[in-house]
Amino acid sequence: MSYKEQIDKSRLPRHIAIIMDGNGRWAKEKGRERTYGHQYGAEAVRMVTEASVETGIEYLTLYAFSTENWNRPDEEVDALMALMVMSIENETPTLMKHNVRLQAIGDLSRMPAEVKAKLDQCIGVTSQNTGLTLVLALSYSTKWEMVEAVKAIARQAVSGSLAVEEITDRTIDDRLTTAAMPDPDLLIRTGGEMRISNFLLWQAAYAELYFTPEYWPDFGKESFYKAICDYQNRERRFGKISEQL
Ligand code: IPE
Ligand code: IPE
Ligand code: MG
Repeated sequence: MSYKEQIDKSRLPRHIAIIMDGNGRWAKEKGRERTYGHQYGAEAVRMVTEASVETGIEYLTLYAFSTENWNRPDEEVDALMALMVMSIENETPTLMKHNVRLQAIGDLSRMPAEVKAKLDQCIGVTSQNTGLTLVLALSYSTKWEMVEAVKAIARQAVSGSLAVEEITDRTIDDRLTTAAMPDPDLLIRTGGEMRISNFLLWQAAYAELYFTPEYWPDFGKESFYKAICDYQNRERRFGKISEQL
């Protein structure tokens, strides 16, 4: 039986988040430039988006560019930005066809004007779609996001519109870029590294973690279904004991 057939549709993760890693190494192993890997990475994005639509996942968040990725060589950053412009433009009709709503989280003010414009356009055009919500994490990091949230809370506390005693985890949730989304249930990282790299640190407090050595360009639909099957074999206890569930 294929992994797809093994998925229990009644127990799907509502929100899957993916650290798409390994494009550069994938290309290097083929004797090609890192950028070549990013191009194939964009193909994998299409596959996994389609697989999410087919499975009925509500939220898919893809870590496409971190705050720290601004420190890569200029040529690579430029190539990634150009690829984003092209991919967003090319994929908009497909997103419409599959009823996908696009959103973005991160410090979008740092994105080049052309990327920001294409992004805003696609977000606007797809805003009424009711199927999968596809969230691109761009110029994103939790440390950036938490600093912004803390500033917002501090401003309110100083101005007297928020009492310090009233601060709860909801106060923080509501001020993160992910405020309107459920927390990720399943966090996948491709490319073999066993780290979170500043991605959804707060939101993934109780996410199931799934690491695979596969490089992102090789991560297709079956790999995605396999990760969901693995998730469905876990027992999520949220601090309780088995017998209480
Ligand atoms: C992930 O692949 C894509 C981005 C971070 C933009 P990498 O570019 O990090 O590829 P590796 O990890 O160097 O192989
Ligand atoms: C994490 O990958 C960021 C994205 C996938 C966008 P990196 O390749 O930047 O992570 P590190 O630096 O190896 O942890
Ligand atoms: Mg990497």
